[in-house]
Amino acid sequence: MTAELTGKIALVTGAAQGIGAAAAKSLAEAGARVILSDRRDTIATQKTIETAGGAVRAEATDVADPLSVDKLFQSILENEGNLDFVVNAAGILSEGTIINMPVSEFDRIISVNLRGSFLIAQGAAKMMAPAKSGRIILISSELAYLGRAEFSAYCASKAGVVGMTRALARELAPDVQVNSVAPGPVDTPMLALENMSQEWIDREIDNPLERVGKPREIAALVRFLCGPDAGFFTGQTLSPNGGAVMI
Ligand SMILES: NC(=O)c1ccc[n+]([C@@H]2O[C@H](COP(=O)([O-])OP(=O)(O)OC[C@H]3O[C@@H](n4cnc5c(N)ncnc54)[C@H](O)[C@@H]3O)[C@@H](O)[C@H]2O)c1
Repeated sequence: MTAELTGKIALVTGAAQGIGAAAAKSLAEAGARVILSDRRDTIATQKTIETAGGAVRAEATDVADPLSVDKLFQSILENEGNLDFVVNAAGILSEGTIINMPVSEFDRIISVNLRGSFLIAQGAAKMMAPAKSGRIILISSELAYLGRAEFSAYCASKAGVVGMTRALARELAPDVQVNSVAPGPVDTPMLALENMSQEWIDREIDNPLERVGKPREIAALVRFLCGPDAGFFTGQTLSPNGGAVMI
């Protein structure tokens, strides 16, 4: 077991399952103490990390709610006192044609995926900027680049994350680095491959590597971005996507 992040503190949102859970496990394996946050319970992730000997605690949060996010960062200030990494993996997916999607549904997606990224980055920046150190990692999607019919709200939210990453990278430099990860399809509960028709599976694996990604492959990139070898990265959106998008 490598321990290049020993002594570091990481916050991971969306840590109950999927990419967030995998990222939390990977950072804990690397030696970081991880604060697991989700609006659902994170007991399964917590148990896995504790069983492997990792340091972890849980804090329920709705990333779209400013009061909830304030409470989260207040708790980190009181309990840990500082924060080295934030990974905002909380997110939701929803589809619907532009003609049929109610504006309330558009607002719901934007409020979790984009406002949530803003609020989590804001809370992190308030701790990291005075400390003159930190890494913020936001989660976008390959769909920010590709676009997809009937996913306009989701694609807009994820393209917004790319723009916000660039702006925050400039604003918080040189002390705080801000990057994002824009995965292609990843085998998580969000993708729900088991409920998908063959036609949809074929669409998801329509990339040169002809498969979907694994959560641990995305977590490995998150871990790299938090690690000692990523010191020259900021404002970047890295896209593990099987080659579906080449930027
Ligand atoms: N799975 C994919 O194919 C894929 C591809 C590209 C990007 N992404 C993005 O990666 C991120 C993680 O996706 P995933 O596949 O692990 O999804 P997932 O649905 O498996 O997990 C998302 C987690 O976020 C939590 N969450 C949702 N809304 C929240 C809120 N308001 N506050 C706090 N927590 C909230 C959920 O409870 C859940 O535990 C998302 O931003 C998603 O858009 C996923």
